[in-house]
Amino acid sequence: LLSKDPYRPELHFTAPFGWLNDPNGLVYVNGEWHLFYQYYPHSNQWGDMHWGHAVSHNFLEWKHLPIALKPNELGVCFSGSAVIDKNNVTGFFDEGDLNLVAFYTNTIGLSSNQPDGLQMSSIASSKDGISFDQHLAINPIIPNSGSKHFRDPKVVWHEEAQHWNMVVTEGEEIGIYSSINLKQWKKESNWGRHESFHNNSPWECPDLFPMIDDQGVKRWVLVIGIIERNVYTPGSGTHYVIGDFDGKTFSNINPADTVLWMDYGRDFYATQSWSNTPDNRCVAIAWMSNWMYANEVPATSHRSAMSFPRELSLVTTAQGLRIAQAFPCEGLVQNKNYINETKLQLNQSVELSPSNQASVMHMTLNMSEGSAFTLAPFTHNNLVYHFKRQSDDIVISSVRKTDVAGSSRFNQDFPHENCFVVRASDQLTLSIVRDRTSFELLVSDGLYSSTESMFNQDFGPFNITATEGFINIISFNELVKEVL
Ligand code: FRU
Repeated sequence: LLSKDPYRPELHFTAPFGWLNDPNGLVYVNGEWHLFYQYYPHSNQWGDMHWGHAVSHNFLEWKHLPIALKPNELGVCFSGSAVIDKNNVTGFFDEGDLNLVAFYTNTIGLSSNQPDGLQMSSIASSKDGISFDQHLAINPIIPNSGSKHFRDPKVVWHEEAQHWNMVVTEGEEIGIYSSINLKQWKKESNWGRHESFHNNSPWECPDLFPMIDDQGVKRWVLVIGIIERNVYTPGSGTHYVIGDFDGKTFSNINPADTVLWMDYGRDFYATQSWSNTPDNRCVAIAWMSNWMYANEVPATSHRSAMSFPRELSLVTTAQGLRIAQAFPCEGLVQNKNYINETKLQLNQSVELSPSNQASVMHMTLNMSEGSAFTLAPFTHNNLVYHFKRQSDDIVISSVRKTDVAGSSRFNQDFPHENCFVVRASDQLTLSIVRDRTSFELLVSDGLYSSTESMFNQDFGPFNITATEGFINIISFNELVKEVL
């Protein structure tokens, strides 16, 4: 049982105690969603990295398992990924094993003089999905490539090329490798040098996966973590690129200056998708924090949480292909709180969700020209979203304040104001996850996402208020965790 902690969310994954950052090694096998994560079990601050481990049937009930990877002679265990070696190409397995293979960053010699240490890619395997062999004798499988930042290997099967690929950060570029046996890797290419998005900070946590778009065309999506401060999502932002990939080189289908964000908030980073999923589902999750303040946010026994998982699809819009996100609904049930057609006149409010109830909400509404409304998800009004219709656009601005319930100012980068514009000529759809320590908002059929952490011990009722003109709520319903 998890310790009672005033900042323990209800619908989000947290470590039992200690520090958590990136999701790692996401793999589905035998009906279980495995979630590994960057973990420091000895304090609630970042430290010598281990891989924590948990499994779930529904993304809501998590069973905590023993620590999977631990620091050893080759250093600490930074981020990476996992796959199922169905054909036992590694030769690590026997009949009846689970054949789980993980790839992680061994980082050795971290010190204040050498803040990045020496980074290399290593392999680990598990026969039962619980205990791991860290293969000291054959690691690292890819020695440091000469780049100070050589980390976060993500491995994916390439069906047409009939080989495995790995993408790994190499400074401000992505290194692309291939392998037949998951142990020997051949360098194929580097990607990113000519992107306008090239900047002065290393890229982190690349992910690469195939998706079939809504026209039936197979595309590859490359996701990259950006820690630059001078961008739309400063500190920790997640950028994605849609392209083609032949197993050797990746090419962006958009002009190099197209910048697509997975999320417009401050707390959605190190996004990774699950491998080996059933029915070609593409489900991803992110670390719900930001390196600008992650170590300083209010915490007691544990610090940081994962985002709510996101089901991804690739849809055609007037601007081109875009990722759309949705919240998977396994393990959630409809509660009795729903609203049928309701018109909100100027200054009228309606309560969407009662006090201290964590839930997933879906709402469809109409906004008249020039109308505006606010969403105030938390009792202290420490996070407020404002929506304003301007012809076919809706301008969404948000304010997050310092006066976090029960805590003083903990970091100057936490309070912020934000603004993004979404296309919504007709009805506006919103999907929301509200929990004790976060607010996640998907707008316009999931084409835009905004994730913000907030540290409330008591989060109060959640209201919507018409602040200009009038709005028409067409439907609203709320899902809560099924009590078994
Ligand atoms: C991203 C990151 C990774 C690294 C890990 C260390 O948040 O910096 O690049 O592997 O965290 O914990």
